[in-house]
Amino acid sequence: MANYIIEGGKRLEGEVKISGSKNASLPIICASILNGKKTKLYNVPDIHDTQVTLKILRYIGCKVKKDNDKIEIDSRYITKKEIPEDLMHQMRSTVILAGAILGRFKEVTFSYPGGCDIGARPIDLHLKSFKKLGINIAENYGFIRCSCDKIVGTNIDLDFPSVGATENIILASVLAEGKTVITNAAREPEIVDLVNMLKKMGAIISGEGTNIIQIEGVKELKEVKYRIMPDRIETGTFLCAGAITGGKIKVTNCIPEHIVPITSKLEEAGCNILIEKNSIELKAPTRLKAVELKTMPYPGFPTDMQSIFGTVLSVSKGTSVITENIFENRFKYLAELKRMGAKNKQEGNVAIITGVRRLSGTNVKSTDLRGGAAMILAGLNAKGTTTVTNIEYILRGYENIDKKLNKIGANIRIEE
Ligand code: UD1
Repeated sequence: MANYIIEGGKRLEGEVKISGSKNASLPIICASILNGKKTKLYNVPDIHDTQVTLKILRYIGCKVKKDNDKIEIDSRYITKKEIPEDLMHQMRSTVILAGAILGRFKEVTFSYPGGCDIGARPIDLHLKSFKKLGINIAENYGFIRCSCDKIVGTNIDLDFPSVGATENIILASVLAEGKTVITNAAREPEIVDLVNMLKKMGAIISGEGTNIIQIEGVKELKEVKYRIMPDRIETGTFLCAGAITGGKIKVTNCIPEHIVPITSKLEEAGCNILIEKNSIELKAPTRLKAVELKTMPYPGFPTDMQSIFGTVLSVSKGTSVITENIFENRFKYLAELKRMGAKNKQEGNVAIITGVRRLSGTNVKSTDLRGGAAMILAGLNAKGTTTVTNIEYILRGYENIDKKLNKIGANIRIEE
């Protein structure tokens, strides 16, 4: 099993180019099933999660060609309408494949999805929404079989603005009969990216980016070429890496308006931020300041940045308070940080962090994808050597994080 070894204490300085978004790529790759034709995607990150999704697409019968960040998917010859259990278990967003396969074939069989252990992660909202669209659901021996003669548009009010459920409803409704209206829909930029791709394919959708999305079913979709948006969580991760090392970095190929809650918290912590059209420059102070933050659905502070920001706050002057409102299990990284000398305590969904001057290197584990990135940042700050284990979580979602960090002055390597 591979580990990351980090020699800490290097001030990061330079430019980092942000890759395509993981969370936009996954539903967009799934959406290529819908047209029954060719789809060309650009700026797709080469990470474990996109590789697993493409593996499933090949398994069901799609032809997939990959050339660096370009992917061509031909979904004409799909023969299977079930998702293999072992692949389904490798990541959470495989559940989005259900909406796409259902949308095209009106049947799909899958098992409960896997993914990071950051909370219960039920799929009740997905299944409830499928039922409202007239889809029959039968659960047997851990498998869920969905089928119907036709999908009929309807009104769906989500109990919570779930990103995955909103995407699944959109994918299942673009080829439905009539109109589907989602109220309390998620407003995340990745949903807007998925809708932009579907519209280019010929779908009729409006309201994306707001909490009411309307989908007017169409009979057929066409071939499409689409460029995936930049990853806003990777953008935030590198800015935080700059902040925790007292560095001066510029992230390019990003969309600054997607990460306003992150840049404003970094400013509040004392960083100097310069925003341009597609880039953000950050200059960190000698010592960061404590801040308070609460995770919320978009446009609030993203839960995916909570552990990464919490690590930055572990070396900020004063006491910070973090409230996690989305996933109940996202504080596991706090115990790992304590092993590096951080001072923190958890009370329910609130973390109280008292900043220390600097962390000390030791062996720590990735508790999940973002918790793993948080450990890398801790290692960049720490005195001495940090070994980060369970890095398969990190490889799920970050493209070349070690190479990108070394380019701006870090000392991180993979040890097999
Ligand atoms: C997506 C992102 C993930 C991010 C999350 C919240 C992808 C691949 N993943 O995950 O990185 O952290 O949005 O921004 O895009 N819930 C239910 N029932 C359901 C579905 C969700 O109770 O059927 C709850 C979840 O337990 C959680 C909350 O709703 O408490 C938010 O989950 P959701 O928005 O669905 O997250 P994901 O789509 O899984």
